[in-house]
Amino acid sequence: MNVSSAVVRARGLVRTHGRGPGRVRAVDEVDLEVPQGQTLAVMGPSGCGKSTLLHLLGGLERPTGGEVWMDGRRIDTLSERALARMRRRSVGFVFQAFHLVEELTAAENVELPALLAGRSRRQARRRASLLLERVGLADRARHLPSRLSGGQRQRVAVARALVNDPLVVFADEPTGNLDTAATLDVLRIFEDLRAAGQTLVIVTHDERVAATADRLISMRDGMFVDDTRLAGTGTGTGTGTGTGTGTGWLGGLGGLIGLEG
Ligand SMILES: Nc1ncnc2c1ncn2[C@@H]1O[C@H](COP(=O)(O)OP(=O)(O)OP(=O)(O)O)[C@@H](O)[C@H]1O
Ligand SMILES: [Mg+2]
Repeated sequence: MNVSSAVVRARGLVRTHGRGPGRVRAVDEVDLEVPQGQTLAVMGPSGCGKSTLLHLLGGLERPTGGEVWMDGRRIDTLSERALARMRRRSVGFVFQAFHLVEELTAAENVELPALLAGRSRRQARRRASLLLERVGLADRARHLPSRLSGGQRQRVAVARALVNDPLVVFADEPTGNLDTAATLDVLRIFEDLRAAGQTLVIVTHDERVAATADRLISMRDGMFVDDTRLAGTGTGTGTGTGTGTGTGWLGGLGGLIGLEG
């Protein structure tokens, strides 16, 4: 693998919690390279370190040992301020519990990271409305999260993750709180992102989600126990429609990636 094409890179990554005999090695000497445009799924039993790994790679948590690189730049040694800036500009996060701001509308939730990254109100608004339209929620833009279904909230969260045109999107159990219909909606978005060349790292317990990936890593006790290239045919939604070639309400999402608001 060409190092220069790795968007995310980790070397000898370790994260321990606690001290003494109760010490847990949540991530234990992990090496990883995620090339540009890859969709990587990470699976493994509860407590094996998947969320911790995601937090380390995305700069939400600092490793106890080892190195993390984002787009050729080492991030684990950055100051808090520089790290926050890197996160705002280069990564998008999607969490199982959505983590939307309850007091803000769907549109305002999507705009917020754009404003924090220094975009004008107008730019942020325009970009948010484009993204909400692409995730099928144009008519819900003014709704508060409490008036949205779980699947709709997660689609808002995905739009929010994309608003700053991130190098990589990290998703931690993005369908963990969703029913089947909502899961398929979110999967379709991921498939379109994948088709558009978005680099994606998805932690999941759901085999339908993993089946949409190009590569599957299995974790156990903080370590990688398997790393497999998948056919990546993207048929994991069970709809048999393939990779989501831009049909339906997500058509054109690819054009948004890389769009300067
Ligand atoms: N803040 C913390 N303090 C102490 N231990 C922690 C902390 N965060 C995580 N751990 C421990 O680290 C290990 C890995 O946790 P992690 O949350 O990464 O697992 P996971 O694979 O995401 O699990 P799940 O599938 O249940 O979400 C677990 O043993 C967990 O108890
Ligand atoms: Mg977890």
